[in-house]
This record gives sequence, structure tokens and C-alpha cells, in this order.
Amino acid sequence: SKTAEADQNKPLRVATNATFVPFEFKDNDQSSEYKGFEMDLIRAIAKEMGRTIEYNNIPFSGIIPIIQQGDMDIAAAGMTMTKDRASKVLFSAPFYESKLVILTPKNSGIQSINDLKGKTIAVQLGTTGADYAEAKGIANKQFDSNAEAIMELQVGGSPAAIIDKPVADYFVSQDGKGKFDVIPIPDTKSEYLAFAMNKKDTELQKQVNAAMAKLKENGEYQKIYEKWFHS
Ligand code: ARG
Repeated sequence: SKTAEADQNKPLRVATNATFVPFEFKDNDQSSEYKGFEMDLIRAIAKEMGRTIEYNNIPFSGIIPIIQQGDMDIAAAGMTMTKDRASKVLFSAPFYESKLVILTPKNSGIQSINDLKGKTIAVQLGTTGADYAEAKGIANKQFDSNAEAIMELQVGGSPAAIIDKPVADYFVSQDGKGKFDVIPIPDTKSEYLAFAMNKKDTELQKQVNAAMAKLKENGEYQKIYEKWFHS
């Protein structure tokens, strides 16, 4: 197995898909720093561990493979802990609760999951939202970024998207205010978002969980939470 000591002085290589507001995103300006709840959290965790960060912004669907190959150390990508993924990567302790919802423009006529029959919805490639649409036989267009999936609704290309509740709620409280609705999906359960690491990196998993526990104890996690979710 890899030696944790040897990695200690190297930057922590973080794979993300910075299109998932408010967890990870960049402003339109390409020189923008990585922003969001999860970006602040991973920065605080790395600081606890005494390591710097090297970011890699890639399509969400490429994240699990790159972690499996060992080319990146940790995924900070709003990733839902699923059984299937747990067979491929190691998850940290969860940092956020989520659930799938329908995001739809007001007056789209969509009020429940049944109204999506015969429509083509927008989802992000490789996500649990895309899996759900596929499993239910809902026609869907799959985008590389979450921002593009939401854009598709804004330009009228699709009448709905299936995405994570905190992301939909945040959108409706900001850019989508007064223009979009969030509709629950009755047959979905609560899920948890966590960081993902290589199967062999049990030492890194321990360090990340210890750092996160410390940030919860000392109030730092709460501060970051309030910055993004309470204003
Ligand atoms: N939570 C969902 C999943 O795991 C969506 C994650 C999308 N993340 C992102 N950075 N675009 O599939």
C-alpha cells in the first residue's frame, strides 16, 4: 500500500467539477478561485493536514476513473455515496445530506414526476440524477456540466432537470428566484454527499475524517456551513 508519510509533503490533488453551485463553482472569469461550501471545506481539511491543494476541474463522469487510477487523491465533487460507487472508491464521512428533486421553470405545467412522461429532461452525465431518469425510462439529455443542464432550462430546451435538492434550492434562492420551482420526488430517499478516495488510501481517509471531525468540534464546519447556506 502507499505510504502516507511520502504523500505528506505533496499537494493534495483534488478532482472536482466546478459547476455545482453552491458546493463547487468558479465565476465566469476563468481566473476565478474555486468557490463553494465543499471547496472551503476541503481547503480547511487540507490546512488541518498541513497540505496544499492542487485542483483539477474535470467532467463529473471522469472523476471516479481518475481516482481509481490514482492520478488524483480525492474527489470533492458533491458526490453522492452510492453502493455502486462504494465498490470503486473509498468514501469519507458524509458532509451533507441531499435528495433528488425536479427543477422546473414556473408555468412549465410540471407538477410531479408523472408529468415528465413524454418530455425530454436535462441531467448531468454520470450523476445520480441521470441514473434516476434512466431507471425510470424518462427521456433525457446528458450534459458534461451541471451549469449546462440548468442553462438548458433557462433557454427553454428542456422543461425540467433532475438534480440534487441543495443545488436546486440554492438556484431558486438566487438566479432562479421567482422563475423556477423545486418539486419533490416521492420515491427518492435521502442521500449523503462525501469525498471519494482511492480504495488503497485508507490512511488518507483516516486523516480526512479526523480533520473533518476536528472542524465540526471547533466550529469551523459550522462557520463554512453558515457562509453558504444561511443568509
Ligand atoms: N450528487 C450527484 C451525484 O453524485 C450530483 C453530483 C454532481 N457534482 C458536480 N460537481 N457537478 O451524482
